Amino acid sequence: MNVTEGKIMSRFIIDGMKKLNGEIKIQGAKNSALPIMAASILGEGQSIIENCPSLSDTESAGEILNSLGCRVTYENGIIMVDSSSINDFVIPDHLMRQMRSSVMFLGAILGKMNKAKISLPGGCEIGSRPIDIHLSALSKMGVKINDEYGFLTCECPNGLKGAEIILNFPSVGATENIMLAACLAKGTTTILNAAREPEIEDLQNFLISMGAKISGAGGNVIRIDGVNKMHRAHWTVIPDRIVAATYIIAVYATGGKGRFTNVNPSHLSSVLAFLSDAGCRLNWGANYIELKESMPPKALKNIRTMPYPGFPTDIQAPFMALMSIAEGSSIFIETIFDNRYKHIDELTRMGAKIKVESRVAVVEGVKRLTGAKVEATDLRGGAALIIAALCAQGQSEIEKTFHIDRGYDKIEYNLANLGANIKRMSNEE
Ligand code: EPZ
Repeated sequence: MNVTEGKIMSRFIIDGMKKLNGEIKIQGAKNSALPIMAASILGEGQSIIENCPSLSDTESAGEILNSLGCRVTYENGIIMVDSSSINDFVIPDHLMRQMRSSVMFLGAILGKMNKAKISLPGGCEIGSRPIDIHLSALSKMGVKINDEYGFLTCECPNGLKGAEIILNFPSVGATENIMLAACLAKGTTTILNAAREPEIEDLQNFLISMGAKISGAGGNVIRIDGVNKMHRAHWTVIPDRIVAATYIIAVYATGGKGRFTNVNPSHLSSVLAFLSDAGCRLNWGANYIELKESMPPKALKNIRTMPYPGFPTDIQAPFMALMSIAEGSSIFIETIFDNRYKHIDELTRMGAKIKVESRVAVVEGVKRLTGAKVEATDLRGGAALIIAALCAQGQSEIEKTFHIDRGYDKIEYNLANLGANIKRMSNEE
């Protein structure tokens, strides 16, 4: 599972203005695979997780599990985690820094070992990323948290106890951490104002298949009745709704048409609504979405990111690439993260006309973007630059592709199969 080997410090070269047409099978959801990999710690024996994307983030999660003493193997989309040999509760600092969402291992390690030690995950490219909601919930469950020298030492010698937890924000990661910590706790835990993302429901269903007593995920009240023991499970991860939306936007931006399979349309209904308002002609069935011949995109006035089922913050940047060539001016309001507009400077180098005022970005659509040398600033910002380069006049170079490799499995192959002129060059070439 060495996704990053040979990909470190590479760049994409893209010749734009090619219409993309064809079919893509959508990868498994990164943001479901990661918490499910963490959850495998709670079982006895080897859990099998299918439809896992091959990404640097899933690789980092595998390294964390290995560092705890679990045995992890990975072969073509199937991750096997044997947690019976777990013998540690500390996540090394370098692994915590590799992936900010490693904080979700905290709940699983505590649930299994009654203690855990991690370095503060720190901020990332899209904002400060505090974990106060996680920590206040865990302390309500009896966890003693010592925060010094940049490390969090968490202890609960008598085991975690169930609690009534009200989240002041429906945090995805905090909801997952509490679910993981509560499965083996004594008594019942209720989470009010829980995050409602499909990945939370997928995590709940995986935990149930391991013997947990949990219900309500997908709604804003989740109840977990602690059990004494959990066993291994065999699971298939749901499709990645953010990757699906990214490819649909890319094909639409180039004026093409396509069919996207292994996808659950209901998981990205808010994105489909905005795309059809912009001029997209779509139809869909139980596990596919079709983009038909469509009108060029029209600007939209109120693209406000919201917790699920609202417009996803992870699609704000890819959608902004589309709106930068739409007819008219669009208005984006990023309500979830405090610094998620870093891609705008790079889009501007390609001729986009975007003005930012704190959380609001106004995009004045232009006729045509032009190819340029740009840098990916974060995972979804990098995807936005690929979309912009695909529909720009001339050649673009996108550096720091490692950001994109965190969440998109074989993106250059998938886009080339649709007719894109894209290749990955290592920076030595
Ligand atoms: C998850 O991040 C996803 N990551 C993110 O996807 C996604 O953008 C985000 O949910 C929102 O949907 C994974 O699932 C691995 P949050 P998470 O806790 O859990 C604030 C991608 O591109 N907050 O819902 O970190 C936080 O600062 C990634 O795949 C606190 O203030 O998101 C942010 O402003 C990027 N205190 C907001 O809440 C806390 O204790 C949403 O965060 C926790 C969060």
